Amino acid sequence: MIRSVITGCGGHLPGEPVTNDALAALHGLDTSDSWIVERTGIRQRHIAEPGVTASDLGTIAAREAMESAGIAAADVDLVIVATATPDSAFPATAVRIQQKLGVTRGFAFDLAAACAGFIYAMGVADSLIRTGQARCALVIGTEVYSRILDWTDRGTCVLFGDGAGAVVLRADEGRGNASDRGILSTHLHADGRHGDILQVEGGAGSTGGPGLLRMAGRDVFRHAVQKLAGVVDEALAANGLGHGDVTWLVPHQANIRIIEAVGKKLQLPPGHVVVTVDRHANTSAASIPLALNEAWRDGRIRQGDLVLMEAIGGGLTWGAALARI
Ligand code: ACO
Repeated sequence: MIRSVITGCGGHLPGEPVTNDALAALHGLDTSDSWIVERTGIRQRHIAEPGVTASDLGTIAAREAMESAGIAAADVDLVIVATATPDSAFPATAVRIQQKLGVTRGFAFDLAAACAGFIYAMGVADSLIRTGQARCALVIGTEVYSRILDWTDRGTCVLFGDGAGAVVLRADEGRGNASDRGILSTHLHADGRHGDILQVEGGAGSTGGPGLLRMAGRDVFRHAVQKLAGVVDEALAANGLGHGDVTWLVPHQANIRIIEAVGKKLQLPPGHVVVTVDRHANTSAASIPLALNEAWRDGRIRQGDLVLMEAIGGGLTWGAALARI
């Protein structure tokens, strides 16, 4: 049975961190560090310089992931980029990254599932590897949300940051039980009835709008806690595993209160939840690979660990991925 094994990670955050106070001063926001920290856990974020694109950030993260996996451009036969802030409608950001990396074979495409994009991309890459259509995939989440924020809306602009994360997934022959390395399963969901509570107005199919993010924060919060609790149970039950079996929770980094609610449900000690939201803010599709990369590099996540990843985002879209490292 073919399994997709995570063999390397990479990440990139542009420029110097921008603290809450610095952001408020820069945009003349009526907010405070204490309000933002208490409600969200966010202390700072990174913001890309004008002209720096999602493919620029994603290429750096992908190079780092390739280096850590010990692979060359010639090994890669699939590039999937999860992003809500592509360089352009087409060519896909994945194709631009493919070109920047010097990958000349296989296939490459973007995937739009907002903050759940990385989980969706892992699910799709895993399926393509299991069915033999790819053997070595780059799965990248990359975002420049600073371009779609309304800097006069203090309720949203303080929440997001720019960045990119990437993993290398390689085909491996497992023996088909939960102790084998690799992605055990992915669980994807969407419910378009809630599309209005978190959306970017505008785009080619719309009647207009400035192309900026709008969010009903309380509604998103309520759905997040409920739906993430459901999907983590679904992922564990599908593999005959229980709460105590998870070594690390690597959640989407939107809000510390949402992260803690899921960690508590899993009865995980706080030290076993990877948290970057304080330093990265919400980098949407990039947040999980950035968090995974950090814990992988500093030695917290080790071979044999069971890692549960989960995310929810605009759509609504949500999902979970369970992987043995
Ligand atoms: N600074 C100061 N005051 C603010 C700020 C701010 N940055 N933003 C909003 N306020 C004010 C509001 O204007 C409001 O004032 P009012 O009572 O005078 O009208 C008051 O604070 C309360 O506003 P709420 O929106 O009700 O605040 P809430 O406690 O719900 O916190 C928050 C807002 C942090 C956005 C919360 O709803 C949340 O975290 N929701 C989850 C959404 C999320 O994480 N989204 C990320 C994208 S989706 C995803 O990745 C899952």
